[in-house]
Amino acid sequence: MTPALRPVIRQAFTFCATLTLFAAFQATAADARPRHPPGTVIASAQALATDAGFEAIRNGGNAFDAAVATSAVLAVVEPISSGIGGGGFFLLHDAKTGRDVFVDARETAPESATPEAYLDKQGELDVDRAENGPWSAGIPGLPAALVHIASKYGRLPLRTTLAPAIKLAREGFEVYPRLERGYGSRREVMERYAGTRAVFLADGTPPKAGEILKQPDLAHTLELLAEKGRDGFYKGEVAEKLLKGVADEGGKWTAAELASYQVREREPLRFKYRGWDVITAPPPSSGGVALAQMLQILEGWDLAKLDEAHRVHVTVEAMRRAFRDRTIYLGDPDFVTVPMARLMDRNYAAGLRASIHPEKATPSALISGKPAPLEDDETTHFAIIDADGNRVSTTQTVNLLYGSGMIPPGTGVLLNDEMDDFALRPGTPNAFGVMGFEANAPKAGKRMLSSMTPTFIENADKSIAIGAPGGSRIITEVLLGILGYDAGLTPQEVAALPRFHHQWMPDVISAEKGALSPEAVKALEAMGHTVNAAEPTWGNLQTVQWDRRTNTLSGGSDPRNPVGKAEVQPSDAKGK
Ligand code: GLY
Repeated sequence: MTPALRPVIRQAFTFCATLTLFAAFQATAADARPRHPPGTVIASAQALATDAGFEAIRNGGNAFDAAVATSAVLAVVEPISSGIGGGGFFLLHDAKTGRDVFVDARETAPESATPEAYLDKQGELDVDRAENGPWSAGIPGLPAALVHIASKYGRLPLRTTLAPAIKLAREGFEVYPRLERGYGSRREVMERYAGTRAVFLADGTPPKAGEILKQPDLAHTLELLAEKGRDGFYKGEVAEKLLKGVADEGGKWTAAELASYQVREREPLRFKYRGWDVITAPPPSSGGVALAQMLQILEGWDLAKLDEAHRVHVTVEAMRRAFRDRTIYLGDPDFVTVPMARLMDRNYAAGLRASIHPEKATPSALISGKPAPLEDDETTHFAIIDADGNRVSTTQTVNLLYGSGMIPPGTGVLLNDEMDDFALRPGTPNAFGVMGFEANAPKAGKRMLSSMTPTFIENADKSIAIGAPGGSRIITEVLLGILGYDAGLTPQEVAALPRFHHQWMPDVISAEKGALSPEAVKALEAMGHTVNAAEPTWGNLQTVQWDRRTNTLSGGSDPRNPVGKAEVQPSDAKGK
């Protein structure tokens, strides 16, 4: 698949110039363009979740109701990636007010999570504590986000939007190979916990593809959330079981920190790239800042005119510089001062650009021995545009596969292991091989730095929502996707784009097998780059587009994941 796409991309970069001219001719027709899309498009990593989103639309809901329904179904059928024991970011465009808003439902650190709590007797990072079980879990944010979005932006009650998820939890869904594989890789951790065994070993054996997985406790928890809103999760029966479950396994959460969890509404970041308005994730995501840096650095080149090796070289150098700044400066803006003005400044990007040698790799200052791990199953992204022009781009996660592996008994809630996204030991890489320092040190109530980068890009012709899972690779997946759109690719071509990644440290270009031609790899090595040119594929990009020139909707669902679905339904088919 990937080598076959290379000529398409080359063509698209050339096509781009032609398209720009064409757009100029079209400009006069711009004000005659439709104000509303002809229906709804949803792209998610699970067909059942996409279907639930459309059910909300058919019930009279908007994109925000569809987002609640889609999230809740993902929580049930994709526990490997996201869930109500985790968190996420929602980027919303409200067509009525024209406002873009970023709903931050990132988990927060419990009071017990001091830096010392994650060190072993030798002062080294206790990796097991950071990645598994109760100490690895932050206070979940997704349940609060579902309530917040439904009540502030949606039209439907939660009992309607959560109904498909509750049904799938109670009656079960068919296990697919990715869930079975992921369970295999996390089995030892998951089977430590009685609550997890009760769900995943209910019939005595681990889940197998083709079997039906039922989660009656999760159905009950979702029902309480639907009936009581926030209090159904953060107080009362569920909260008590969460607290007891965490305590029984040696962790420490308090009733007060559960009850006081709040989502934050933040202003999204905005910048321009070659005529596109980019609207993206602010801290505590590192993704938007890194995107701004990388795209503003890359604006200095006409990428379509560079050969493959030089195009990859300058893109990698931009990645390297953005990830260096991520490591040093980024953290929760409610706790640390992030030098946003400088990091977002075009002149700062120009300075970084000037430091790029056109023919030579810049060695990263330090070289970590730990390779960035490969992951494609953690985290999930979906995107929606509805017939009113409302838009949603949201990335949600429990962090590593199946999060902490721990379900507090009786809740069905698989807790995240997001604490590993803090710099638990300064300068020590986390599970994604990225590290941090003081700005991202854990503190009670603080949100851990994230790479999740739900993004909109827009120009006079198109409105696009894009995002992806993949740990630190999220940021570069979204970058390559935006470059693909700028080169004229369709959403499905963007989702299929071959991927490469660099994150400052380790000082290596990771590339999917076939993403780079052998000639480009040779040329990059001659410039001084280290290239891992044959890594397995990663990511699961989901993206949707409204093209105003033709008034058409389209979606792209990553072909690396066979159970995803992008679908368009016209307004007249949904009875809106
Ligand atoms: N847990 C992955 C991220 O938020 O970056």
